[in-house]
Amino acid sequence: MDALRNPFAPGAGSPPPELSGRAALLARASTAMGRVQHGRSEKGVVLVGLRGVGKTVLLSEIRRRAEAEKFRICEFEAHEGKPLPALLVPQLRRVLLELDRLESLNAHVKRALRVLKSFMNGVKTKIGELELSLDIDAETGAADSGDIEADLPELLCAVGRAALARHAALGLFIDEIQYFSTAELSALIMAMHRISQDRLPVILFAAGLPQVVALFGNSKSYAERLFDFPQIGALSISDTLDALRKPAHAEGVEFSVPAVQHIYKCSAGYPFFIQEWGYQTWNDAQGPTITERDAQAATEPTIARLDSGFFRVRFDRLTPREKNYLRAMAELGPGPYRTGDVAAALGKKSTSLGPLRDGLIGKGMIFSPAYGDIAFTVPLFDEFMRRIMPEVEA
Ligand SMILES: Nc1ncnc2c1ncn2[C@@H]1O[C@H](COP(=O)(O)OP(=O)(O)OP(=O)(O)O)[C@@H](O)[C@H]1O
Ligand SMILES: [Mg+2]
Repeated sequence: MDALRNPFAPGAGSPPPELSGRAALLARASTAMGRVQHGRSEKGVVLVGLRGVGKTVLLSEIRRRAEAEKFRICEFEAHEGKPLPALLVPQLRRVLLELDRLESLNAHVKRALRVLKSFMNGVKTKIGELELSLDIDAETGAADSGDIEADLPELLCAVGRAALARHAALGLFIDEIQYFSTAELSALIMAMHRISQDRLPVILFAAGLPQVVALFGNSKSYAERLFDFPQIGALSISDTLDALRKPAHAEGVEFSVPAVQHIYKCSAGYPFFIQEWGYQTWNDAQGPTITERDAQAATEPTIARLDSGFFRVRFDRLTPREKNYLRAMAELGPGPYRTGDVAAALGKKSTSLGPLRDGLIGKGMIFSPAYGDIAFTVPLFDEFMRRIMPEVEA
């Protein structure tokens, strides 16, 4: 069928033609935002899930709704090796300058700008490239100790007070939050704690890989009372039906139920894979009805596309020993796995493999869902490992 009209959107953060199965979460987010705007305290929301389940697109949709509700938005994606202040400061600066431009002079807004300036002085040594001008005198002694756990709470509270003074609310949107350092995460949690105690109109929405739940809990035991951690996962069969049929229908094409069932079986309901299958099936099918046979015929090219793209880019970042470790995991099925069983499959002692495991966790390939257990962060990675490496090497 006409590739130009293909509605499916496989990609990182590409908005799907139908954001299926997330209505309850979106409703919860809207309620939380409304409460914050009315001066009620509300937990932050950290979306957790494997690669490609749709965390980023959900976060973007919540951000769009926040904008529609007139929230001021601070939005960024954490990444390895980039300090939090370098990501946060430009966003806060923009928001404060916007608030400053509104109507009459406001002392809280001016103070927040001075505190931001002193925060920038405090962390300056750590963010060489951050050269943002702020035409205001720093408030010496405020948020400028250089210790992020002391400075960030002070800075965010000053920004929260500025927002309150302008009858505005602030939404903090942070993607890939697992890349924060321990000190940064701790500082952020402490900041949100202070904000909740002072009932300031600031709400946090974040997304990250499953290990973030443990990272938050290990950082501060009260984190679980400050944040919700909704699990974002695979879609059900009825949500998969919507994800495939609604966009096709809008283009005058019908996806037959057996075709959807076939894609559901192959994709295990994972959103990214659903988009890939939908995309390929559409391009290869004659139409205007997509049959089970079309979906079956599209399966081999879809898997080939995934193998040479989504899976391959991750595989190529691994050392030979890391590849072999993941292959040993795959030998045991889809997981989760006991670390001892993986070690046994490799003929090694579990303790001697600790550094290798830590390296794989650091690369975001695996995580530990419970003590002594590990699992892949990429859905269906075990099947890929068995395809790409015929066997575990001794
Ligand atoms: N609810 C949904 N229904 C249908 N398709 C979806 C849904 N959510 C996401 N997708 C599709 O899945 C793909 C992956 O989405 P996204 O990039 O948001 O995942 P992610 O969880 O952020 O992945 P990563 O951890 O790799 O960043 C995109 O192609 C998107 O269009
Ligand atoms: Mg993402």
